Amino acid sequence: MAVERTLLLVKPDGVERGLIGEVISRLERKGFKIVALKMLKMTREQAEEFYSVHRERPFFQELVDFITSGPIVAMIVEGENAVETVRIMIGPTDGRKAPPGTIRGDFSLDIMENIVHASDSKESFEREHKIVFKPEEIIG
Ligand code: CMP
Repeated sequence: MAVERTLLLVKPDGVERGLIGEVISRLERKGFKIVALKMLKMTREQAEEFYSVHRERPFFQELVDFITSGPIVAMIVEGENAVETVRIMIGPTDGRKAPPGTIRGDFSLDIMENIVHASDSKESFEREHKIVFKPEEIIG
């Protein structure tokens, strides 16, 4: 195992529902460090690039509408095996199927409005974080 970084977004539903602190708290209690953090509203251009792998999916436009519908909180999370471990902590995409104890399992009943996003690989992190953060916004 090695120290890695991953990108986590608290999506507009998570911000609206007041879950920013809950999400950060879970990550910090687990032992992860936050090395970049900001609130922003994604532009359509950013959202289309961010979710470009889903461009052909039937839900793509709805997904872009949703992620640009309000402020999000983006953070870079650092720690041992961060990519896989943070994915385990957020749970599967569909909140109805995500187990209790995971972020989606505890707070979402929907497949799209599922509170958080986290990079699914180191390659995704490399691509995704550059859409949201400038190099000077990242500590270390
Ligand atoms: P996320 O982990 O951000 O990655 C892609 C997002 O697309 C996903 O979370 C959901 O918000 C959304 N999504 C994935 N599958 C579906 C689906 N079948 N219907 C609607 N939205 C989906």
